[in-house]
Amino acid sequence: MSKEEFKLTKKLDHIAFIMDGNGRWAKKRLLPRHLGHKEGCKRVIEILRACDDLGIYCVSLYAFSTENWKRPQDEIDHLFNYLDDFFNDNIAELIERGIRVHLMGDINKLPKHTQDTIRKSMDLTEHLTKRVFNICLNYGGKDEIVRAAKKIASDVKNNKFDLDKIDESTFESYMMCSGLPPVDLMVRTSGEQRISNYMLWELAYAEMIFPHTPWPSFTKKELIKCLEIYEGRNRRFGGLKNE
Ligand code: IPE
Ligand code: IPE
Ligand code: MG
Repeated sequence: MSKEEFKLTKKLDHIAFIMDGNGRWAKKRLLPRHLGHKEGCKRVIEILRACDDLGIYCVSLYAFSTENWKRPQDEIDHLFNYLDDFFNDNIAELIERGIRVHLMGDINKLPKHTQDTIRKSMDLTEHLTKRVFNICLNYGGKDEIVRAAKKIASDVKNNKFDLDKIDESTFESYMMCSGLPPVDLMVRTSGEQRISNYMLWELAYAEMIFPHTPWPSFTKKELIKCLEIYEGRNRRFGGLKNE
């Protein structure tokens, strides 16, 4: 089968990416690290287009972790500027494709201009239902769980919520991922085999693939290679059947 003809046959409602390797991609080309982020942003729209065309409902992208504040301020500033540019340049196409922008993470510490761009992008797309682009910004999996636990504790204390009613689904309704399907496939580019505090709850039964390609070189062709691997996975969810 040629790559162009690839069709998904397995259920894949939610694919989550850890875009990694931007810095190494730039270093290899003797460029400043931030140009790796710039090139990486170009891949983001290409991957969103490809996932839309393949019929994948939700795409998550780890763009900035709660740990990434340890990086040099100059790199952080560039990264947020590129994110601004990404939304400004592509919001019309996201709307046209019916893609709603969803946010996970606390953007209050981000530069005001980035906060405004993200909020505007969410407002402009909130009515759209065909697809979701879930951007994870100043996001940490542990932070998400702690915030949910705090909100539940507060609701229980104020008699708004009965402690006995807490189960996995009510707990999830307090999380940032509330309303999104569970992650079916997690792809981390650049060869690192760890999840770096990404979607600790949401990845509970996700398949994982760790291609060596750095994110700025991760094209649709590379994506399809991952999907071909995913098609061959045996997902049992604790049972005996391949679901
Ligand atoms: C991922 O690329 C992008 C972000 C963390 C925002 P890196 O910047 O981590 O690239 P490497 O891992 O240093 O190559
Ligand atoms: C994870 O990548 C965070 C994002 C991609 C946003 P890192 O490059 O920060 O992860 P570590 O430090 O290698 O674990
Ligand atoms: Mg990295």
